[in-house]
Amino acid sequence: MDAQSAVSRAEAAGAEEARDVVQGTRDGFTSKLGVIAATLGSAVGLGNIWKFPSLTGSNGGAAFIIIYLICTVLVGLPVMISEIMLGRKMKANAVTTLRKVAPKGQPWWLIGVSGVLAAFLIMAFYTEVAGWVFAYIFKAAFGAILSTDPEVTSQAFVALISDPMQSLFWQWAVLVFISVIIIAGVSKGIEKTVKRSLPLLFVLLVIVGVRSLTLPGASQGLAFLFTPDFSAVTGATLLTAMGLAFFKLSVGMGTMITYGSYARDDQDIPSSTTRVMLADLTVSILAGIAIFPAVFAFGFEPDAGPSLLFITIPAVFASMPFGQFFIVIFFILAASAATGAMLSLLEVPVAYLNEQMHWSRLKATLVTSIVLALIGSTAALSSSVLADVTVLGMNFFDLYDSVTSKILLPLGGLCISIFVGWFWGFDEIKQALSNEGALQNQTIIRVFYGIVKFVTPVLLAVVMLNGLGIITF
Ligand code: PHE
Repeated sequence: MDAQSAVSRAEAAGAEEARDVVQGTRDGFTSKLGVIAATLGSAVGLGNIWKFPSLTGSNGGAAFIIIYLICTVLVGLPVMISEIMLGRKMKANAVTTLRKVAPKGQPWWLIGVSGVLAAFLIMAFYTEVAGWVFAYIFKAAFGAILSTDPEVTSQAFVALISDPMQSLFWQWAVLVFISVIIIAGVSKGIEKTVKRSLPLLFVLLVIVGVRSLTLPGASQGLAFLFTPDFSAVTGATLLTAMGLAFFKLSVGMGTMITYGSYARDDQDIPSSTTRVMLADLTVSILAGIAIFPAVFAFGFEPDAGPSLLFITIPAVFASMPFGQFFIVIFFILAASAATGAMLSLLEVPVAYLNEQMHWSRLKATLVTSIVLALIGSTAALSSSVLADVTVLGMNFFDLYDSVTSKILLPLGGLCISIFVGWFWGFDEIKQALSNEGALQNQTIIRVFYGIVKFVTPVLLAVVMLNGLGIITF
């Protein structure tokens, strides 16, 4: 009996080990934790530190957060579960996954193509903001942006973005940095990096948060974050919150399909994605707690928009003891957040070119990065040489941001939820989400199915049509 149980234990250990070796020859994440880390690394990014606080500030505080929460739970999370589920099932990049999973002749793979396009457009402006963040670490460390006067910090920021050489330099430096990690591969590049950058980010955020909360007058900032005023909410606010939910969870464009394709077959998808969503939310709220109490404590305005990060924050932190130290810490944490997100963005086209065109990772990354440098430079130069060039009334930077957050990602999410809810069918979903029957999560699967089939597409369609002015109520 003893001998027998020893043998079965040894067998079980062997099976576990075999599973630890990534299935097949395809690179992938090496553990369940690795998948969660990478997915969280993709979700957490400048969205939490740059977009969430500034959009909350300029859309009325807590009311916006509540709407954003509803969009995240009822739309963002179901789309995230759907994407990871499809990617893991097909073990391929976004375009190939959708081509393989859909019945022949149906053009669902176009969602993947739109995703690759969205990855390029997001990277175009994201690398620019990340470039400013990296530049600010150095500038703060050498004292260049230190002033308690927002007039002065504003001039410093304008000097950076209106200098074409500096803008391009920092954007391209970021691209080189990210490319080197991507070339190293999924497990040795992406997974290793995010496992280091995420803990760093959490620790630094808590340090800055505690500092901000202990300032005299901090309670006003908390009240702003947590007391809802719905009078400022309009159709445009709803679409902004929905767009943020997509951008934040990195969904609607195939990032999560791609990362799902590297996930292990024994990963519990509903549970890990829910944890990722909650952790991402925690980072956003922590970023709000790090920023708003300090903003109010020093008498600044909360509704500074995107400039909150680069103009108000330096002035706020410079106003407190050890300000320089906290500014440097703050921008290092923003840089580590941005890194995981950019890795996941770059991986979308690289995985596609690698698998579909049979290019090596090196070639796929180099070609993608060069194209990105070119497209990205239109965003980088949109505050200098190209400041007067507008499309639909926006410069290139704002255009890429709006088109992706307000159109491409929600539209991608709409198509994915319709495909999963109405075309893929309950039996396939049940098989996939229960890990072929290994998990006892029938109720969760039923709830997910109901939401992804009815709630997600209807809510999305209404918010999009309303936000774009096609229907009003
Ligand atoms: N989620 C990232 C952030 O909040 C941005 C991102 C969007 C990353 C889409 C990948 C795909 O910063």
